[in-house]
Amino acid sequence: MQHLTPVNMAALHARAVTDLRPWTRVEFSSLMDSPHVFACGDLAAFALGRVVLDEAELLTLVTDPDQRRQGLGARQLDRFHETARKCGAVTAFLEVAADNTPAIALYAKAGYAQTGLRKAYYAKLSGEKIDAVIMSRVLDDA
Ligand SMILES: CC(C)(COP(=O)(O)OP(=O)(O)OC[C@H]1O[C@@H](n2cnc3c(N)ncnc32)[C@H](O)[C@@H]1OP(=O)(O)O)[C@@H](O)C(=O)NCCC(=O)NCCS
Repeated sequence: MQHLTPVNMAALHARAVTDLRPWTRVEFSSLMDSPHVFACGDLAAFALGRVVLDEAELLTLVTDPDQRRQGLGARQLDRFHETARKCGAVTAFLEVAADNTPAIALYAKAGYAQTGLRKAYYAKLSGEKIDAVIMSRVLDDA
């Protein structure tokens, strides 16, 4: 199994995220170098998270477009929760584009609920502005 690197993370992110600007190798590299940031997964699906004090943030979660609906995203989300708990987090939050139905369904199934809304937060490649939904959950053992 190949390790996650900024290069292959950026490549998978670009394949997975088609309507927003993909994150670059330099952005992944800088995130991976920053304190409290961790990655889980492989070249089929990965999660990138950060824990600050008792709060975890899911920075991104992607599954290869050819391997979706096989539980890989949910598995990496679970691994993000496990790692975050070990690092001392008791809650987790994330931001997701309001029109990202697959991701919102995945997060809702994993126990996240909407806790906020940032109007016109994302600019799509098409130029359209999309709200960001903030979702969070408690990191109990569920
Ligand atoms: C969101 C994403 C990570 C889901 O990955 P995945 O590996 O296909 O997800 P899973 O197979 O683990 O799905 C788990 C559950 O999420 C929900 N779900 C996932 N994709 C869905 C879809 N297209 N439509 C509706 N529900 C969906 C379902 O409840 C699913 O369970 P089920 O298959 O038993 O019905 C993937 O679609 C992706 O990479 N999207 C592009 C990147 C992105 O938008 N990431 C989120 C950024 S915040």
